[in-house]
Amino acid sequence: MDIHSYSRPDRVRVRHIDLDLDVDFERKRLLGSATLHFDAGSSRELSLDTRDLEISRVEHERGEAAFHLGERDPILGAPLSIELPPGARWVRVHYRTSLSASGLQWCEPAQTAGKTQPFLYTQSQAIHARSWIPLQDTPGVRVTFSARVRTPPGLTAVMGAEMEESGGEHRFHMPQPVPSYLISLAAGGLAFRALGPRSGVYAEPALLDAAAFEFAETEAMMQAVEEMYGPYRWGRYDLLVLPPSFPFGGMENPRLTFATPTILAGDRSLVSLVAHELAHSWSGNLVTNATWSDFWLNEGFTVYLERRILEKLYGRDRACMEATLARADLAREMAEMASRDHVLEIDLAGRDPDDGCTLVPYEKGALFLTALEQVVGRKRFDTFLRSWFDTFAFRSVATSDFVQYLGRQLPDAAAAVPVKEWLSAPGIPAGAPEPHSDALARVEAAVERWMAGDLIDTSSWSTQERLHFLRTASAPLGRIDREFAFTQTGNAEVLHQWLLMAIREGYEPALARLADFLTSVGRRKYIKTLYAELAKTPEGRARAAAIYEKARPGYHPIAQSTVDQVLMG
Ligand code: BES
Ligand code: ZN
Repeated sequence: MDIHSYSRPDRVRVRHIDLDLDVDFERKRLLGSATLHFDAGSSRELSLDTRDLEISRVEHERGEAAFHLGERDPILGAPLSIELPPGARWVRVHYRTSLSASGLQWCEPAQTAGKTQPFLYTQSQAIHARSWIPLQDTPGVRVTFSARVRTPPGLTAVMGAEMEESGGEHRFHMPQPVPSYLISLAAGGLAFRALGPRSGVYAEPALLDAAAFEFAETEAMMQAVEEMYGPYRWGRYDLLVLPPSFPFGGMENPRLTFATPTILAGDRSLVSLVAHELAHSWSGNLVTNATWSDFWLNEGFTVYLERRILEKLYGRDRACMEATLARADLAREMAEMASRDHVLEIDLAGRDPDDGCTLVPYEKGALFLTALEQVVGRKRFDTFLRSWFDTFAFRSVATSDFVQYLGRQLPDAAAAVPVKEWLSAPGIPAGAPEPHSDALARVEAAVERWMAGDLIDTSSWSTQERLHFLRTASAPLGRIDREFAFTQTGNAEVLHQWLLMAIREGYEPALARLADFLTSVGRRKYIKTLYAELAKTPEGRARAAAIYEKARPGYHPIAQSTVDQVLMG
């Protein structure tokens, strides 16, 4: 049972969805129909998830269907219950989305790189698909789908699916069954560039060169994962560069990763995000968390795979740097978090599943897998992972499935590692792996020399080393800036760290970039921490309020509610 869905797949299971949608940029609505094909058995009622959808009518194969839209729950939305005639195999729901659809962002031309065309994109994870499609919105149900999408002339529509243009209509087909949170759509002034035989990038024309450079290693990454964990099963792997208001770094929509433009650093230093989203093609998209309490099975596995890709492509140093930085982030975050949220298998009763999206499922999850790897060695652990992906391919798995499978396949690891404690106890178990990076240790040594007055040469430092420098150096920011010019950085990750420090220290030259950053970028990880840092002092609060008033309309609904919570409590 998934507590975040009103659907009852144990009674009726939807197998395929046909979408027919108009993208109306003027009214900021999707309108059309969703035809759901299902196995109903003897059941006479189909219960779907919706949020803020306006349902005009419902048909079944013999005529009009009686339906009832239940009361709206603030977290879950409203259940749509449809009466089925005996033997029914499909229903067609005619509907339109609302202006407040939580899974859609309608961007004004001013919010795009080209400034002339509007842009729409969806973000369905965790439970936002229901705000643009009436469906069984649970990761325990998988569907194939097809879609016809109409856009205003000159705009391109893309979906995470096989795509084909025909007579001004965009057609899509997804032959592999996917959970609802992986259904995606975007429309805007897009161009395409091939990266390899089975990969490419969609971006606004102004960003296409930069994106093609940044993502040039995509095919190499695909081959790296295939060597370790088996064939890529989705045909193509393309990336879509979204407007900067995209609230996440990336979203692993199958066949078409959605990505923030803030990773276009010009030096490929932030491509761990591509490794991460690509890795989801195995962990998450192929083998899927059964409920949002099992989210660590998606993200912990994916971070583990991401680091293995980095190691294979760029060497151990790079993977260790990222793991070490992330370990420190995890410690910082856990120190400020309620201990009930320290656990991998999380209790989300009465809560929004987005609340469970902390570093715990990501980094504690990856540490847990690393702990298991250390017991049995890499070779056996890789064999185990590969057979996990093969055994549960195109299925949903719960934490208990993992425990069982681990006990059967790697009994020695299951005995040597405190599995229960990893899954259900707060904190990090004693004896957990401790990531260590020699390169970052050298940065620390350099910081000490520099603080003692020596000159240090940082010209060859990577983004990760520069980040570590900022996190360990303690000196007046004016001095750091004069020598290293962080205020001028074009790297979003470094700028974010620098702005956090500038807020803390009241360093005005850098703060001049803050308003601009917060009004153009909507990536939640960045804006949440910056607003939270501002909110710590009365002057900061005033600055935050002034910036937020201007910035809020340009943020995605998910980012708006995050910042609302930070500033309004
Ligand atoms: N699937 C997540 C994004 C997500 C999680 C969206 C939960 C909605 C709810 C994606 O794979 C992800 O983890 N993105 C990270 C980047 C990654 C490199 C850690 C992000 O967006 O920061
Ligand atoms: Zn992820």
